[in-house]
Amino acid sequence: MTAIQNAGSLRLILFGPPGAGKGTQAQLLKERLEIDHISSGDLFRHHLSNGTELGELARGYMNRGDLVPDEVTIGMVLDRITTMPDGQGFMLDGFPRNTNQAKALDDALAQRGQRIDRVLHIKVADNELIRRLSNRYICRNCQKPFTRDPVSGDAPRRCDDCADGGDIYQRDDDTPDAVANRLTVYHAETAPVLDFYRESGILADIRGDSTVESVNRLALDALGLTSEV
Ligand code: AP5
Ligand code: MG
Ligand code: ZN
Repeated sequence: MTAIQNAGSLRLILFGPPGAGKGTQAQLLKERLEIDHISSGDLFRHHLSNGTELGELARGYMNRGDLVPDEVTIGMVLDRITTMPDGQGFMLDGFPRNTNQAKALDDALAQRGQRIDRVLHIKVADNELIRRLSNRYICRNCQKPFTRDPVSGDAPRRCDDCADGGDIYQRDDDTPDAVANRLTVYHAETAPVLDFYRESGILADIRGDSTVESVNRLALDALGLTSEV
């Protein structure tokens, strides 16, 4: 795999099942790499909280843990990417989620003479994913993920990243039924996308079951960037 030359123009995909830590690692990598973080789930939740037509369309699919139809999702994400300045790097989180989305992304980038540089696949076992998602809270404002205190069991009250202390809440799709369906959908529809990227030689598998900091180190290692930390 070729080393990353210019981190600021890196085009990266954070790939992994629900609860793998894509959002958590994105927060850390965003600061380190100075590239945009584009999370399809965050974009949908933004539409939901603003009561847009797109948000209303997505709501039922999201609450059940099903994929929102490609006709809506692909345009929403590709609009963001294709309106960026040419050399600006980005990190996709939660997209692509099926082979149709992966092909649409490849085609849109190829039309701009670009390609994805690296796909980081964060691997975590299903039982740990279920444990994490039942303890997960997020900031309503910036969507940063938090976890319940392991000793007291208390949820955090305010976001430490938002100046005015963003409100913390539990996502509607972190119910046991929706989580179970999200895992089923991941294994059936999303995991096959890994083969698509493995064939292009840009896929790096990293273990996501250690601490947040060590997963971050593995991610930077996979990008050949550890020594600069
Ligand atoms: P989306 O928002 O993308 O959700 P997801 O893929 O299910 O992933 P999560 O956000 O739940 O997990 P994460 O990997 O970001 O983990 P996190 O860092 O929060 O999608 C939601 C829905 O939108 C979909 O179901 C679908 O309906 C729709 N949608 C989105 N994209 C779509 C697309 N492309 N096509 C169609 N539909 C789409 O971490 C989880 C918890 O674990 C946190 O509490 C965190 O603090 C903790 N944690 C993180 N890392 C560690 C660690 N190393 N050790 C211990 N705890 C950790
Ligand atoms: Mg997320
Ligand atoms: Zn916040």
